[in-house]
Amino acid sequence: ETVVLAYSGGLDTSCILLWLLEQGYDVVAYMANIGQEEDFDEAKKKATKIGAKKVIIEDLRESFVKEFVWPAVSSGLIYESRYLLGTSLARPCISLGLVQAARKEGATYVSHGATGKGNDQVRFELSCYALWPQVKILAPWRIREFTERFQGRQDLLQYAASHGIPVPVTTKAPWSMDANLMHISYESGILEDPSQAAPPEIYQMTTDPMKSPDTPTLLEITFKNGVPASVKNLTDGRGPYTNPLEMFIYLNKVAGQNGVGRIDIVENRFLGLKSRGVYETPGGTILHQAHVDLEAFCLDREVLRLKSYLRDKMADYVYNGFWFSPECEFVRGSIQLSQEHVTGWVRVQLYKGTALAVSRNSLVALYNQSLVSMDEHGDFEPEDATGFIKTHAIRLKEFQRFKTQAANL
Ligand code: ARG
Ligand code: SIN
Repeated sequence: ETVVLAYSGGLDTSCILLWLLEQGYDVVAYMANIGQEEDFDEAKKKATKIGAKKVIIEDLRESFVKEFVWPAVSSGLIYESRYLLGTSLARPCISLGLVQAARKEGATYVSHGATGKGNDQVRFELSCYALWPQVKILAPWRIREFTERFQGRQDLLQYAASHGIPVPVTTKAPWSMDANLMHISYESGILEDPSQAAPPEIYQMTTDPMKSPDTPTLLEITFKNGVPASVKNLTDGRGPYTNPLEMFIYLNKVAGQNGVGRIDIVENRFLGLKSRGVYETPGGTILHQAHVDLEAFCLDREVLRLKSYLRDKMADYVYNGFWFSPECEFVRGSIQLSQEHVTGWVRVQLYKGTALAVSRNSLVALYNQSLVSMDEHGDFEPEDATGFIKTHAIRLKEFQRFKTQAANL
């Protein structure tokens, strides 16, 4: 029987590949290119050498940006106020490719290298079940024969070495990474102690803000119906970039140079564990800030309130692995309705780790300068505010009266 394995080229999935072969499966290695820095040719050679009957490498970068990152930006997705969900968004994207490959190869099983303690197992498997209800899943990190044999990294290294699987020559960084176009996450190893700051050399997409340029960079980002449409650098004249992939790659570069997008957090995993993670999301951070700004400018207040409620729901759905769920489809559709008039530009200043919106413009915004102006009355009768305030004061006066009365009881 054939297994299609989500293969990364790293130690874990290389050992899993070999172990699956030892269990008697035929294994197809599936690698999605979602923008991670990776030598795909090397990884292909490695998987072939270990014994994969086929290695599939698929470039999913454009669909990752257009179908997953853009909706996240329009929706303003942010988990527990800080995490922009780079890994969470990549999992359903990879699962789509994985399932398609598995069906094409006539496979019965899909397999992955996510651990039993994490979110990724949930995301991969829920996505695969949703996309292919008959799928069977092999998660070695939850199979007793596997976990009895392999406690962790040391055992994997030994197994790899004794079976001629090339292991990284340099002793790998003492933490685990997950990289794609949107972000790199760092967890585990020395990061497991939250009281210890992450070593400065950990970051790969961003310059240390303290070492970034001493002069700011001004970008102009345009959105159409809530979706990023172009990026221009007003400081050096670069751009406009309008192709989604090019735009995003450029944003990563310029944000990275200015040290934008780093966070170091403790978060709540779906299973109930708390985990410490360090993330860098350079381009995504700029887009998030710019979109938040334009939306406040364009949207009705009550729609904005409803939308931020739906955004928080959707962030949980995405984090917890429910991208392909009725609730996620529903909130996505609802949020999309709110984006009809989120069209215009925002200028964002990048400087030493910050991305600040400094000006914005839109032809369809609800903002009305003459109505709000301190220099003219516009279409507003100030006396109306007197009654508005007095009516609101009724409850406050009653509350004071009640407190005084209660104190004298
Ligand atoms: N904690 C983040 C999340 O759940 C990042 C997970 C990183 N995954 C990994 N396989 N290293 O989205
Ligand atoms: C893993 O458990 O494989 C990585 C961390 C996570 O999925 O949350």
